[in-house]
Amino acid sequence: MTDLFSKFDPLIEMRSALLEGGVTDPFNLVMEKVESPTVAICNGKRTILLGTYNYMGMTFDPDVIAAGKQALDEFGSGTTGSRVLNGTYVGHRAVEDALRDFYAMDHAMVFSTGYQANLGVISTIAGKDDYIILDIDSHASIYDGCALGNAQIVPFRHNDIDALEKRLKRLPPETGKLVVLEGVYSMLGDVAPLKEMVAISKAAGAMVLVDEAHSMGFIGEHGRGVAEAQGVIDDVDFIIGTFSKSVGTVGGFCVSNHPKFEILRLVCRPYVFTASLPPSVVATAATSIRKLMNSADKRVHLWENSKRLHAGLRQLGFTLGTDEPHAAIIAVIMPDLETGAAMWEALLNEGLYVNLARPPATPAGMTLLRCSLCALHSEEQVGEILGMFAAAGRATGCIS
Ligand SMILES: Cc1ncc(COP(=O)(O)O)c(C=O)c1O
Repeated sequence: MTDLFSKFDPLIEMRSALLEGGVTDPFNLVMEKVESPTVAICNGKRTILLGTYNYMGMTFDPDVIAAGKQALDEFGSGTTGSRVLNGTYVGHRAVEDALRDFYAMDHAMVFSTGYQANLGVISTIAGKDDYIILDIDSHASIYDGCALGNAQIVPFRHNDIDALEKRLKRLPPETGKLVVLEGVYSMLGDVAPLKEMVAISKAAGAMVLVDEAHSMGFIGEHGRGVAEAQGVIDDVDFIIGTFSKSVGTVGGFCVSNHPKFEILRLVCRPYVFTASLPPSVVATAATSIRKLMNSADKRVHLWENSKRLHAGLRQLGFTLGTDEPHAAIIAVIMPDLETGAAMWEALLNEGLYVNLARPPATPAGMTLLRCSLCALHSEEQVGEILGMFAAAGRATGCIS
């Protein structure tokens, strides 16, 4: 018998070597208690959360929690069925209405996760004989959507406008083309040049899908994302998003003005062949989305936090993923996995949680400490965070 697990041996060895060095497993942390969107208890210790994607701090919003509790009481704990059978409750319609209002678009379709939204929409609209032109640093769910649909995949260099244009020019003019972009790329926290890329794509006769997972709620005048901020949202054919970041719960969606969009509800397998979200989840999402429409003050504060942290980390001597803060993600580049893991542990011991990211999630084999800020981090907390980075950085030799 060939052991089907033998292909994982290199990863098992790498993990063992890291843990034998005495470092805490960075991928196995338990949140023992979560006190607020910015503070949890980990290993019995008060820990500031700086790696949660809870950008707008909606997880403990009293209205959001009340809506979830009420739905739990009135509709039970789950739907036990697909959206196309018994799994569409009034709450599922209500959250889709909230999304239509939030984006000012005609159609909204909710999936059980953002991963499934990408998987479903990309694989269904771009099939065999079509082309998907995508940024090489695209999220795993985008790549998996491409694989499921059997389209021809044409990757281009990250955020490279000329590379996108060259790839599009080489494709046969009469074929179906879908350009897939992200508003904010979550590993380095950099924003895409959507203004130029959307214009080039449209000129080449391609449809455009933008994943705004890391910008919804925060970037753009109404929080609609980078496409809104760069003035091209009306030219984007499909926006993909998630409830697991700014919205503060779980779920995914696609919004669009395409006149035939609703047919996707019958043909999109990751929508049809899975149970719909629990009533409590869609109730919390709808309430959160409607509150995000009136959150301009929080957006301003989150930008201030992002700028403060970015400037402070640079001043301490850390190498960051972007020269200026583009979003609520600030990536600290580590020289290697061992140093990254040591720094991650030192920060945890200081009382700070960040995300340790490594290949294959990261581009160019990088090890990153990814910081994601929250609109509810206070100015004092950002100061505390910088103090912890200074102490941990010196203890591990990352900075002098
Ligand atoms: C760009 C991007 N798209 C989609 C997803 C998937 O979202 P979800 O957590 O809802 O599955 C993520 C999650 O990290 C993401 O970063």
